[in-house]
Amino acid sequence: MPERRIRTLGSYSRMALAVRGWGFEVILTMSILVLWHVGTFIDGDGMGVLFVGAAGIALWRIPGLATRLAKKLRDQSCRRWFCDVLISCGVISRHGQIPKVEAFEKTPAGERVRLRIPAGFSSEEIEAVGPSLAATIGAREVRVLRDPGNAALAQFSIIWRDALSAPAPPWPVPTGSLWEPISLGIDEDGNPVRIGLPERNLLLGGEPGAGKSAALSLLIAAAALDPSVHLTLLDGKQVELAPWAGSAEHFVGPDMEGAIGVLKGLCTEMDRRYATLLAAGLRKIKPGGEFGLHVVAIDELAFYMRGGKRDERNELTETLRDLISRGRAAGIIVIAATQKPSSEIIPTFVRDLFSFRMALRCTTPEASDTVLGQGWASQGYSASTLDPTARGVGFLLAEGAVPVKIRTHYLDDATIAALTNRAERARGGGSQ
Ligand SMILES: Nc1ncnc2c1ncn2[C@@H]1O[C@H](COP(=O)(O)OP(=O)(O)O)[C@@H](O)[C@H]1O
Ligand SMILES: [Mg+2]
Repeated sequence: MPERRIRTLGSYSRMALAVRGWGFEVILTMSILVLWHVGTFIDGDGMGVLFVGAAGIALWRIPGLATRLAKKLRDQSCRRWFCDVLISCGVISRHGQIPKVEAFEKTPAGERVRLRIPAGFSSEEIEAVGPSLAATIGAREVRVLRDPGNAALAQFSIIWRDALSAPAPPWPVPTGSLWEPISLGIDEDGNPVRIGLPERNLLLGGEPGAGKSAALSLLIAAAALDPSVHLTLLDGKQVELAPWAGSAEHFVGPDMEGAIGVLKGLCTEMDRRYATLLAAGLRKIKPGGEFGLHVVAIDELAFYMRGGKRDERNELTETLRDLISRGRAAGIIVIAATQKPSSEIIPTFVRDLFSFRMALRCTTPEASDTVLGQGWASQGYSASTLDPTARGVGFLLAEGAVPVKIRTHYLDDATIAALTNRAERARGGGSQ
């Protein structure tokens, strides 16, 4: 913990803060006074009032100006409030300056403030102020994020309400290709979280009922709705992915032999794709090229990795490992869900091949770490701390450097029925 020093604001900073904090309001008042004086100078008080009134009405009629003005005044007052909070929490540099509020915006869960940090602060000092700020203002949490590209900038997210306690908003159904990022859910600020699937594999882990199959459904729906995407589905339970069977080239239930056959077929297809790419002097498939993306979705991965006879298990594990490790540039995307991502169930060498991981609610920090990777639980990212009643909430380790807590969108049965029908029609089948 950084050493806590009692610091006071320098008299220069206090003055600068006062002027800067009220500058906009001062200019606005002065403009009104000047107008009034001009009017009075021409023809007495009545003309002054008329001038101010006429200017007010003229400005009011400019589209959007009134809203922008109201927002500016609100932002100014929020900035002053935040400066007062920084001062009362002693966030004052050794030169007696406080961070400068550069932007203040509302988020669905609260507010986000972008600050420019003056000289004299260590990064530990800034990162450590979140809890004391939250206690001072009575917020749920204040998260401090340093800008990785500029050490002088920091973002403070003030969380007033838990955006993840209620279901995520309805899924924005993708209308374009699977090469575009798809919305998976919302983060703690209530902002959409999107992931790009090409050249990635995704592992979903968590206890039964955590929301793995629901998350898998979203990704399968996105793939099914793009008719250029090939779909292979393996479902150890059979019922979860069955609605999408009509859009899939292969659908395998709890059948080890069938699963091995389909996966081996995909390896052959992968080799064929690489041979074609090599002949064309290309290193990977591209949007609009000869080959479409091929999504392989596996629910209840443990059924296949631990089921059947020993030889079958080994053969399946080896085929899947080959597919995941070499398939990316050939456009093969593996998305798998499992209840028990431990190394006895899924060998570490297979698990580590998934570059994107999502840990939904897990029973222990160890289980959470086996999905996300070693060490995240001890850094505060443990899916065992998630509320068991908040289904579909989990930590997603994808594009960012740290896991992000998100709640996935949820497709109910009626929505799935409508989407499967749409996907099948786009693929030339389904009821018209
Ligand atoms: N994102 C979500 N939002 C709201 N409810 C969800 C969400 N995900 C799952 N659920 C609820 O939780 C139940 C179990 O989800 P499911 O995906 O089948 O869990 P798992 O596959 O992990 O066993 C679903 O039937 C649904 O009612
Ligand atoms: Mg499931």
